[in-house]
Amino acid sequence: MPTVIFQLPDGTERKVIAASGTVLMQAAVSGGVEGIVAECGGNASCATCHVYVDSAQAELVGPPNDVEDEMLDFTAAERRPTSRLSCQIHLSDALDGLVVHVPEEQV
Ligand code: FES
Repeated sequence: MPTVIFQLPDGTERKVIAASGTVLMQAAVSGGVEGIVAECGGNASCATCHVYVDSAQAELVGPPNDVEDEMLDFTAAERRPTSRLSCQIHLSDALDGLVVHVPEEQV
């Protein structure tokens, strides 16, 4: 059961305990994390679940796939090197303690 820490734009953070095998977006929505809109429900077609993976953990999370990489060009907030769509990050115990930053805007 990995714990994920969401750093919010106002400087506060939310800790969410997620089941292994779920995606990060689901963990955020279930945990009531503000700022993860997820309009498309996890199909990598809306870019409203954008997060910045903490740079220290970016390698652990890995790069986006090709479809995600294209969608990341349509995020409302600026795209950065550690930008990911949270619906495409599959959680496992290896990602316990993951820190992600929620951008100021999603739409
Ligand atoms: S929920 Fe739409 S791209 Fe992730």
